Amino acid sequence: MLEHPQPVIRVTMMPRDTNGHGTIFGGVLLSYIDQAGAIEAARHVSQKLVTVAIKEVVFHEPVNVGDVVSFFGSVKRIGNTSITVAIEVFSTRIWAQKAEEVRVTEAELTFVAIDEEGKPTPILRSKS
Ligand SMILES: CC(C)(COP(=O)(O)OP(=O)(O)OC[C@H]1O[C@@H](n2cnc3c(N)ncnc32)[C@H](O)[C@@H]1OP(=O)(O)O)[C@@H](O)C(=O)NCCC(=O)NCCS
Repeated sequence: MLEHPQPVIRVTMMPRDTNGHGTIFGGVLLSYIDQAGAIEAARHVSQKLVTVAIKEVVFHEPVNVGDVVSFFGSVKRIGNTSITVAIEVFSTRIWAQKAEEVRVTEAELTFVAIDEEGKPTPILRSKS
């Protein structure tokens, strides 16, 4: 697990989130991954951020309806105008006879700090 012990987001997956196989649609997880990455990045940067790239998304295991899914974040790199965050996703099968936590997905995302014109601007580190 990554260095930040508290998940950035924790959510229960619902029947509306499924694909044609009855497991959770990857695009739903991607949306939460983007949100979790943005929240983690915003803890370190005081400007407005936009996602420039989502890379190395790997879906290791399926996520099921009713699973409690936790998105953990950690900063990998801070550049001149960009910040890169790793997100790891763990799914807790709370309805299984013996609840287990499974590492289901990982991704790396890069966000860019932008000015009022939407142009890249040097990162200002937040004080927290
Ligand atoms: C993000 C955006 C402002 C970047 O503008 P740009 O002129 O292409 O930016 P630059 O080429 O100067 O690169 C800016 C930073 O992003 C990084 N970057 C650019 N493309 C990247 C990519 N594909 N992967 C990783 N980093 C990337 C650069 O390395 C640079 O980082 P650094 O200053 O820390 O070295 C522009 O592409 C944009 O507005 N994209 C749409 C954003 C958006 O709508 N996102 C979805 C909703 S939030």
